[in-house]
Amino acid sequence: MEICEQEKTIQKSGTTVSAEIDVAAKLIKDANGVYVTGSGTSYNAALIAKQILSRRAKTKAESIVSSEFGFVAEGIEKGSVLIAISQSGESADVLDAVSIAKRAGCQIISIVNLPMSSLAHESDVIIKMNCGPEIGVAATKSFTSQLAILYRIAHKIAGTVIDFSDIAKAVSTMLKEHSDIQKIAEEIKNVTDIYVLGRGGHYPIAKEAALKLKELTYIHAEGVLGGEMKHGTLAIMNTSIVAIVINPNDMTHEDTLIGTREIKARGAKIIGISDVKSDVYDYWIKIPATTNKESYPILEIIPIQLLAYYTALGRNPDPDHPKNLAKSVTVR
Ligand code: G6P
Repeated sequence: MEICEQEKTIQKSGTTVSAEIDVAAKLIKDANGVYVTGSGTSYNAALIAKQILSRRAKTKAESIVSSEFGFVAEGIEKGSVLIAISQSGESADVLDAVSIAKRAGCQIISIVNLPMSSLAHESDVIIKMNCGPEIGVAATKSFTSQLAILYRIAHKIAGTVIDFSDIAKAVSTMLKEHSDIQKIAEEIKNVTDIYVLGRGGHYPIAKEAALKLKELTYIHAEGVLGGEMKHGTLAIMNTSIVAIVINPNDMTHEDTLIGTREIKARGAKIIGISDVKSDVYDYWIKIPATTNKESYPILEIIPIQLLAYYTALGRNPDPDHPKNLAKSVTVR
């Protein structure tokens, strides 16, 4: 249900907080340094933030996983800004990062779903995700809301406007019909290793895809930088491996295809997530073509969430509550 709600939540995200987005954009523009932090899925959004801010807003940002923040805090310049991303606003690691950043003289912008949370309380600017309660332990709609808000902030800095109606339409198309994804889920449900490849802004999606697969299906999955495959992971490619390649029609496309052919030559089964077909894919998950190419990451994660969900059925009796995990981790 939460996966399917994204048709509406993506378009809605950020629409009621334009004043806060304006303030955040100004703070980021004037800051001496920009840092972005989060844990789990929210950290993957932080990784994409670095790409979005660089490409759209020509702003350099550093993404730091919250549990590692303390180890690099000494390098933070006074007068910097920390963007803290958290669905719950209660992750202990994120709260720790925020208090370290405050001591280092940062102002805090939070992107948070629960406005009464501890994170909101500690923030100078609170940007509400407004995607409604998220009950499933594995984050889905909160992730795409975080991305939508990050795009809005970057566009505000750049003095441009982003229109999500095209993206919302594409998401709605993908959510209407997923029998192909169900078939692929059936094919992969007994594999032991899945590698997910992506370059640029698609690498954080590869990481998020691997996280969704691990959380829901308990299959070992790993996100790999497309260009790094040949520097190590290629050694273990064989016929028992499934590789998912995030390969939309943008500047990463051709290079990703080259790497994919290398994996395919070693016998791995290839699932391509793209708006363009290729003979290298054993299975093609089509994402709708869009003129809004910078927003591809939002489109790419939807079929993967569905794939993780359908693959989980039959393996995990309760995909909403994976074993050993909690929705909000309030310990270190
Ligand atoms: C837990 C959840 C993850 C979530 C992470 C960060 O580990 O199981 O799904 O991504 O916490 O949560 P937050 O509420 O800070 O976004």
